[in-house]
Amino acid sequence: MRLVLVGPPGAGKGTQAEIIAERLGIPKISTGDIFRANVSGGTPLGLKAKEYMDAGDLVPDEVTNDMVADRLAQDDARDGFLLDGYPRNTEQAKVLDGILKAAGTVLDTALELVASDDEVVRRLSGRRVSKSTGKVYHLEFDPPADPDSDDLFQRTDDQPETIKNRLKVYAEQTAPLVGYYEAQGKLVRIDAIGEVAEVTERALGAIGAAE
Ligand code: AP5
Ligand code: MG
Repeated sequence: MRLVLVGPPGAGKGTQAEIIAERLGIPKISTGDIFRANVSGGTPLGLKAKEYMDAGDLVPDEVTNDMVADRLAQDDARDGFLLDGYPRNTEQAKVLDGILKAAGTVLDTALELVASDDEVVRRLSGRRVSKSTGKVYHLEFDPPADPDSDDLFQRTDDQPETIKNRLKVYAEQTAPLVGYYEAQGKLVRIDAIGEVAEVTERALGAIGAAE
């Protein structure tokens, strides 16, 4: 299955992508994770992306599109993938359609995770990530064993002002994707509120992959 996840920051895209990709046996490709790994590693790509990410703005399309094209060309993505955080505007969606067309295939489904601004702000403010394992926690909804552990960090873009800008960027630049995929007859929308497992079952049911 070739699947993209669309939804505001904090809707639970990364959380669900991990589980759904594993259940479907396809690679999870998260542009945010790839950018963050490059920022941590101090690579040229990371240096280009960092200032945009810290501000909560989109990294320029040419940088992002080339990175995704390279990743999709890898063997493990040939028979299916789950994209988390890409595309992020209609220009990227058109580029993705072009990449897939050139490979003789098409996208199956765009899954939209719907959550209110209040809920995503709560989710992002309480998010903590383990340095050693990369696991994503939430102080209230999925608390780590020791919330004061030095192993935990908060993403630099999870500060109130940056969250506000990310929501604005989502509304202005990413939300139009919903109409783009609706017009293609590929949009499936689910409520992202509820327990993680409940949202997963809703998602699998909606994309027709329930067991
Ligand atoms: P990216 O990493 O994609 O960030 P985002 O879209 O803002 O989304 P998040 O990762 O913040 O949230 P999420 O939906 O994954 O939620 P999560 O599962 O973690 O992008 C970061 C930056 O990189 C961008 O701002 C941009 O600069 C750049 N970038 C990336 N892709 C790009 C692109 N294509 N083009 C240009 N630039 C790009 O969950 C959040 C919290 O909620 C966690 O604590 C989790 O434990 C909790 N939670 C999850 N599910 C539930 C639930 N059901 N109930 C309660 N809590 C829950
Ligand atoms: Mg994420």
